[in-house]
Amino acid sequence: MNKPLRIAIAGLGTVGAGVVKMVQTHGELLARRAGRPIEIVAVSARSRGKDRGVDLGAYAWEDDPVALARRGDVDLLIEVMGGEDGPAKACCEAALSAGKHVVTANKAMLALHGQAMAELAESAGAALRFEAAVAGGIPIVKALTEGLAGNGISRVMGVMNGTCNYILTKMEATGESYGEVLKEAQALGYAEADPTVDVGGIDAAHKLSLLTATAFGTRVAFDKVEIEGIERITLQDIKNANDMGFKIKLLGVAQQNGDGIEQRMQPCLVPTASPLGQLEGVSNMVVVDGDFIGQTVYQGPGAGEGPTASAILGDIMDIARGLIIPAFGQPATGLARPDASSNGSDAAYYLRFSLTDAPGTLARLASLLGAHKVSINRMHQYGHDGKTAPLVIVTHSTPRAALNAALAEICALEASLAEPVALRIETL
Ligand code: NAP
Ligand code: HSE
Repeated sequence: MNKPLRIAIAGLGTVGAGVVKMVQTHGELLARRAGRPIEIVAVSARSRGKDRGVDLGAYAWEDDPVALARRGDVDLLIEVMGGEDGPAKACCEAALSAGKHVVTANKAMLALHGQAMAELAESAGAALRFEAAVAGGIPIVKALTEGLAGNGISRVMGVMNGTCNYILTKMEATGESYGEVLKEAQALGYAEADPTVDVGGIDAAHKLSLLTATAFGTRVAFDKVEIEGIERITLQDIKNANDMGFKIKLLGVAQQNGDGIEQRMQPCLVPTASPLGQLEGVSNMVVVDGDFIGQTVYQGPGAGEGPTASAILGDIMDIARGLIIPAFGQPATGLARPDASSNGSDAAYYLRFSLTDAPGTLARLASLLGAHKVSINRMHQYGHDGKTAPLVIVTHSTPRAALNAALAEICALEASLAEPVALRIETL
């Protein structure tokens, strides 16, 4: 047997403990498949005494993750602490600078520092891999960098946050409140340390920015992603969408669009019968359109101990076998500076208004939409209590700029009691 690949793990929470379990469970299988043993040498976390449900007795302990990364007996660092800067970034940089491979699940860090880290890895002849950072257990980075490497990619789209999909589908299935379901997602280990990063769409936007770079050969441009979370989605919105044959999903889309690349992460309506409409619970799904292959669809668990550990082990196995490819599928210095598209593609929209229940209100709203050439397809007023009139309108396909202008004027009406909700209806 060849010499072992010696690994260190920084972070022993949901993901780190999962990696330890997987290596301990499948040690022989991994060694057979890689042609060499995968050995955990040392670990690090904040609290040494914490019970993590795994036996760490055989591994050296380091309080300082940077010291862990610099150990002479370590070939590869797994960074699963989290945090976009601080010790996570410091230990990854220390490992890469010393020519050691890095496998990380840290999308927040890579969305901000991915370009610099990929360049550092390449100059040091080391691998930087991040399968676990995007869509949990789904090997989508591998699909883009290897299986689809011969294709020009025109669009990458999908559900990339397990917590949000869990919340949206569980609320619908059980009628539980948003807050209750979020707590369950946290208890199951799906949510980020700060769950507002999940429900605010930021976590999924981090992931989308990494997929965009990988699919389009551009530098990671998280700051160019248009982001909106699911915080304003109500059970009533979910029911309204259902009645019309749609599901609400936090959907990420990256596509070439005229003058640049459009990157959006926002709640959208998708047809119930579509694969994305059928996606339940913590699952993620990524749909890729390639010029020679056409459309391919990838589905699997998007968060949690087992799926994330699985993705990390996939990266480790590649490195153990000697497959060292650039982080984003092509040399980092050759990645293009992306132009953000200045105009999002046209779409139909679901609009929800909260209005004063008074004569003439509906007529004023409709005339403002009409003045901006926003055409109404369907309309439904439900459950008004005598004072407020919740109104749902579905538009025909319209430019976002025209809709925004109309909504700004509607919002300024005295009869408008809350900021309207506007959800794009995505055609798949
Ligand atoms: P977690 O359960 O909160 O675990 C974080 C671990 O890092 C803990 O063991 C913690 O130590 C350690 N840690 C935090 N700050 C540290 C520091 N300054 N120095 C040393 N150790 C420190 O988080 P997680 O859910 O495993 O997530 C880890 C990473 O994976 C994050 O980047 C996350 O975005 C990513 N990720 C998570 C999932 C998921 O399903 N959970 C999926 C994909 C990607 P203590 O235990 O001693 O406090
Ligand atoms: N908080 C993330 C999610 C973890 O819910 O999808 C996986 O990246």
